[in-house]
Amino acid sequence: MQLKLKKNLYSIDKNLLVKAGEAINDTVLDRAVEKARKIYLVKLKNTTILKDIKKAFLDERYAIIFSSKNAKQRILSVLGGISIPKTILAELKNLKINFPYTYLHIIMIAPLAMRVALHKDVRGKFSLKRIGELCLAHDIGKSRISKRIINKKTPLTAKEYRILRMHPLIGHVLLHYYYGKEHSKYDFVSYEHHERLDGSGYPRRIKKMSLYSQLIAIIDIFDALTSQRPYRSGTYSFRGAIDLLIDEAKKGRLNKRFVYSLIAFARHKQPILKGMKVSKFSRDLPPEWNAYGKIARK
Ligand SMILES: [Fe+2]
Ligand SMILES: [Fe+2]
Repeated sequence: MQLKLKKNLYSIDKNLLVKAGEAINDTVLDRAVEKARKIYLVKLKNTTILKDIKKAFLDERYAIIFSSKNAKQRILSVLGGISIPKTILAELKNLKINFPYTYLHIIMIAPLAMRVALHKDVRGKFSLKRIGELCLAHDIGKSRISKRIINKKTPLTAKEYRILRMHPLIGHVLLHYYYGKEHSKYDFVSYEHHERLDGSGYPRRIKKMSLYSQLIAIIDIFDALTSQRPYRSGTYSFRGAIDLLIDEAKKGRLNKRFVYSLIAFARHKQPILKGMKVSKFSRDLPPEWNAYGKIARK
């Protein structure tokens, strides 16, 4: 018996893999896999992502961090020069439609992390281009988590948490596939951004991770706290988010130096990190209602 497809088969970036009516055999399947794996690169400056980032810059919550016009220009120019596979672009477009919060978060942690990496005490440790590429792929695994879980307003059940916490692994697998032989350059932050230096993170509870993952993990938390989320009554203020990050750094979970480089943006003149004083007391209250971290019985 010969198997034939009723409809055309496409890859996520709309690349025709197998035509309708074509008989399916090993050769056709091998060719389809080969086509799906081929990497077509797209420059970010030719996509709507850069426009969306520029639009998001107008949001008041980013004002402190992007107060320097020069730094902003430099970041935009680096971002514009980044090339990403068409498949990742398609994933991002899909996220924009189905998970707008996640999309905005993914595209904005790229310039935020780049800005912190430009702090004079951190500069030189990172390539801005690499930060951009890694950030744009870090939460791609969320695209495979059910909308019901991502958009849930009430506490998640233990099972739903387990599913949500699979997104770093799913992202790792997707990136491995999309980047083919080059995967190891791009898939580690997706896998590591929820790990913590004391081993309390997930999915592998590792204590050692790349500097890129350590920096991006901090920006990831900061942006998640200061943006709208379905499961919270409001957003954390800049100071409220910083309080939480300082606390996490004190517990040995986050890289203190990178947390301090972020705090430096709250000061008029960016201080050097050595000897920088940070108040021991929390100055701002978190939103009144927050279902995050709470576990529902069923
Ligand atoms: Fe994540
Ligand atoms: Fe994230």
